[in-house]
Amino acid sequence: MESNYFTIIDYPTGMPSRDLFALRHRELPELADGEVRIRNTWLSVDPYMRGRMSGQRTYIDPFVAGEPLDGAAVGEVIASRDARFQEGDKVSHGAGWRDVAQLSGEAVHKLPDLGVPEQAYLGVLGMPGMTAWTGLNRIADMREGDNVLVSAASGAVGSLTVQLAKAKGGRVVGIAGAPQKLEWLESLGVTPVSYRGKDARELAADLHKACPDGFDVYYENVGGACLEAALDNLRLGARIAVCGLIDSYNAQGPTPGPSNLSKLLFHRARMEGFIVMDHWDHYPRFLEEVGPRVANGEISYKETVEEGLDATPDAFLKLFEGGNTGKMLVRL
Ligand SMILES: NC(=O)c1ccc[n+]([C@@H]2O[C@H](COP(=O)([O-])OP(=O)(O)OC[C@H]3O[C@@H](n4cnc5c(N)ncnc54)[C@H](OP(=O)(O)O)[C@@H]3O)[C@@H](O)[C@H]2O)c1
Repeated sequence: MESNYFTIIDYPTGMPSRDLFALRHRELPELADGEVRIRNTWLSVDPYMRGRMSGQRTYIDPFVAGEPLDGAAVGEVIASRDARFQEGDKVSHGAGWRDVAQLSGEAVHKLPDLGVPEQAYLGVLGMPGMTAWTGLNRIADMREGDNVLVSAASGAVGSLTVQLAKAKGGRVVGIAGAPQKLEWLESLGVTPVSYRGKDARELAADLHKACPDGFDVYYENVGGACLEAALDNLRLGARIAVCGLIDSYNAQGPTPGPSNLSKLLFHRARMEGFIVMDHWDHYPRFLEEVGPRVANGEISYKETVEEGLDATPDAFLKLFEGGNTGKMLVRL
């Protein structure tokens, strides 16, 4: 059986172009003992994959040009030589960017049966959701009554973060781009602020208008002007959870730091980066807490869906142009 997969042909600087990605085919070997073959039904594309295209190790190994890319995927088992998996099982795993995956059963996980669509395990109940929960609770230590600011607030991570913060009794402000994203945030009870066309000072002024008392928590997904504007609006003892810095992922060279780091000092604030994988032993707790609230509609989520394996590179590139509301996915 053949597997069709994407690779990169080089290590890009700046914003990658569509030509970076090549579709290749490979004949799969016979299934070995302990292996599982999966027909992928949904692929995830995520901003962190840009860092893996640099050719350099960061907190994770880089992609290798010419070799299959990988990433989160869900699919259906079509053959198994691992007694734990049967044909027809719905599973998640890390061999995305391809239509058919073959891997050790050790790296495959049966989807929990929570009554949600299977692709939810790539978004609101998968890695992005777990990231939202981890950053808010374990890093920013959000408490009832906190004023909370979230950047990229309508994305996969941000849109769950704002809802968890509201449910925990926070007053929440969300930064996003397009008008329909701002409207969705407003419908969730979040005060929306657009960053488009604004420098850090203008954004800081708008954040002040949205929340004159300042923020106890800043959930950082973007960096750049958002971080500088947030620093200008901190409350005493504020906590900043640095989840992502997407504004710099396609930068051509070193990016300037915020000019107002002194605000951390003045407000006795704490800023801490985190990688969700270091917290994965808490995933069952997250699922127990958040899963039923997604299943009963208390927590809402959106998906932006591109169709077919060929669309995977475009889906990925759109993340950097604000082309997604909620989780960006590819349906095969
Ligand atoms: N630390 C971890 O373990 C971890 C895990 C998962 C994700 N992350 C990080 O969390 C962040 C969000 O990830 P996600 O998967 O939820 O992606 P996402 O928010 O669903 O998609 C990216 C969004 O970022 C916004 N954006 C892109 N470039 C921007 C820029 N230059 N300035 C301002 N906004 C920009 C766009 O929305 P607008 O239309 O609003 O511009 C875009 O839709 C990323 O930084 C990611 O790297 C970290």
